[in-house]
Amino acid sequence: MKGAKPVIAIDGPAGVGKSSVGKAVALRYDLSFLSTGEMYRCLGWKVLDMGINLDDEDKVFEAAKNIKWSFERASDNSLKVFVDGVYLGGKLFSDKVGQAASKASASARARAVVTQKQIEIGRAGAIVMEGRDIGTVICPGAQVKIFLTATAEERAKRRFLQLKQNGKTADYEQLLSSIKARDERDSSRAVAPLKPASDAVIIDTSDMTLRQVTDKVLEISSPYAS
Ligand code: DC
Repeated sequence: MKGAKPVIAIDGPAGVGKSSVGKAVALRYDLSFLSTGEMYRCLGWKVLDMGINLDDEDKVFEAAKNIKWSFERASDNSLKVFVDGVYLGGKLFSDKVGQAASKASASARARAVVTQKQIEIGRAGAIVMEGRDIGTVICPGAQVKIFLTATAEERAKRRFLQLKQNGKTADYEQLLSSIKARDERDSSRAVAPLKPASDAVIIDTSDMTLRQVTDKVLEISSPYAS
């Protein structure tokens, strides 16, 4: 069963821990790791930076089409995403950019452009990819498909604690409503909505620690990757 270049697809809603789990699995099995949401965040950031109205589909599509993507594998195995040669890093993780990414990613034509790039990356294999549609659209032939879930309240709580730990201010109710808004938009859009592939293993992480979730995904992936 072991494949030389397996693809491990991890999908799920905002704030469920896909990146933390995916990075740990990639490191353990010496695979690359890509957060596909980071690419949509780059698009969201660019649209905001250019002053484009997020409801203007033509302009959002143009912005997506004109992005020159490049990637560099970092020491933690994750692929750093460069937009037009620039690494945006921490600029991508504000709530404003997250909401812009969610809106821009609902535009079918802009999505098609980003999807094409992600399909190319997935085809090369030897990668853990996380997002909303990896198992359904980007890598339907992935050897491992995981769908992580947790209640919106639990995800808001985790995010709240994470921000506090990093010495940032946080408002639980605001985080919860933001997560619910993104869930609603990401799940109800016409193209590639957030949903588990029919052959995905669904893991409800609400009562699990990060370590437990990681161990479970490592165990499921082991026949294909170790
Ligand atoms: O995973 P994230 O929070 O960084 O993703 C930001 C937004 O990008 C998310 O709200 C929806 C969109 N997204 C998507 O539509 N498809 C993906 N594969 C990944 C993210």
